[in-house]
Amino acid sequence: MLDLLYHRRSIRKFTVESIAADDRDKLIEALLLSPSSMNKRPWRFIIIEDKALIKETIGAKAHGTKALDSAAIAIAVIGLTDIVDVWVENCAIASIVVQLEAESLGLGSCWIQIRGRKTEDGTDSEEYLRNLLELKGSETVDAIIAIGHPDESLPAYTKEDLDFSKITMR
Ligand SMILES: Cc1cc2nc3c(=O)[nH]c(=O)nc-3n(C[C@H](O)[C@H](O)[C@H](O)COP(=O)(O)O)c2cc1C
Repeated sequence: MLDLLYHRRSIRKFTVESIAADDRDKLIEALLLSPSSMNKRPWRFIIIEDKALIKETIGAKAHGTKALDSAAIAIAVIGLTDIVDVWVENCAIASIVVQLEAESLGLGSCWIQIRGRKTEDGTDSEEYLRNLLELKGSETVDAIIAIGHPDESLPAYTKEDLDFSKITMR
């Protein structure tokens, strides 16, 4: 596991290769295996493979969407906000779990923050995507996870990169 964590980096440039159906299914399993508060699973996931729709998601944010330019799939992590108060934490856990599964499959990924962000014209990113993805009721997009075959390589972390001053022993 530590090896996976040292090697995972945010990848924002992907090749044109699509993701094999087997790998896509494993990513879906990882999402659904994520732990959640009281096991309430206050989420659903939209697996966007349609390139035109992925491109449209880019309009959700003024900055920080580069990974969506070439992503093979984009996973919209939808929080069901009326099920538990900690839906944000639950969605965040599913997001990192799927990123780690992507890494284990040799795929690259990047988290695109949506909650609390704005479009170029100042609209809430969540509102933009709510319309685009036809969300209902209490549903909102927490994040989008861009995934694909890496077309850039970033150095793995080493122990020297770790800030042990963040650790307090009592
Ligand atoms: C909550 C969260 C929000 C993030 N939002 C974005 C984003 O909107 N766009 C982006 O390109 N990267 C985003 N990232 C990726 C971070 O920039 C990246 O994880 C960080 O710089 C460390 O780099 P690494 O992932 O290669 O270790 C986000 C990461 C997290 C955990």
